[in-house]
Amino acid sequence: MTLVETERDGDVCILTLRREEKLNALSGEVERDLALALDGSAVRSSACVVLTGAGRAFSAGADIAEFRERTPEDVIAYYRSTGDVYERVAALPQPTIAAIHGYCLGGGLELALATDFRIADDSAVFGFPEVSLGILPSSGGTHRLVRLVGPGRAKQLMLTGGRLDAPAALAAGLVNELAADARARALELARELAALPALAVSLTKQAIDLMPETSREAGILIERLAYGMLAQSDDARRIADEWSTG
Ligand code: COA
Repeated sequence: MTLVETERDGDVCILTLRREEKLNALSGEVERDLALALDGSAVRSSACVVLTGAGRAFSAGADIAEFRERTPEDVIAYYRSTGDVYERVAALPQPTIAAIHGYCLGGGLELALATDFRIADDSAVFGFPEVSLGILPSSGGTHRLVRLVGPGRAKQLMLTGGRLDAPAALAAGLVNELAADARARALELARELAALPALAVSLTKQAIDLMPETSREAGILIERLAYGMLAQSDDARRIADEWSTG
């Protein structure tokens, strides 16, 4: 039985972590099932992906029972097997949305940070407890959090191990939106994104992801090349024709 359920709602694909009894702790098995889901045709053919958790949490983080025994060699093997799934989520060409309720801690928050939009409800609780466990967020979270909220706020969250409730996470820029029902709002946004010209959405997402890593000159060239490609796309031509014919 898979620990990551895949559903389709039109052009939107919904992936649900299903390890409720452990608050969706991200074991190697969950990560493997998430990687399998990402490879599946339901994700590949979708225009937007929503990621959420079953039960009372989005995810309480990496499975503590598993990682405590890892030697340095095991860590390298881990990132070559299931541990790179966070990067694979971030690299999806279509937009991704995390619908967050309950605990969103450690690796769970790293997974949410690998998506493009985070929508949370009132029950959401965010934090990085890693330092108190003698480690650090190591699935891209340290890098992504600094980019998203700046080093001051990132240090506050990661060095203290303190938690943020949903309004504080919104104020810090950690989440994009609060909603009474995070999943329902995520689906609504996903449908809106899925209705837009897919190639333009995808290239814009990828260009934005590259910008913090590039010089201004390279960034402008990326924009111009992407524009050159998009201007020739069927969608751009059709929309321009519709405008010109009134
Ligand atoms: N890894 C493995 N198992 C976990 C887990 C994790 N990160 N987080 C929760 N669980 C398990 C608990 O061991 C418990 O299992 P059990 O019923 O077999 O004993 C089950 O999930 C429910 O958790 P519980 O602690 O009983 O729920 P709670 O509401 O009292 O507390 C938390 C919730 C999230 C505060 C608490 O579970 C916790 O602190 N978890 C660890 C969070 C963490 O440090 N994550 C970062 C890892 S890098």
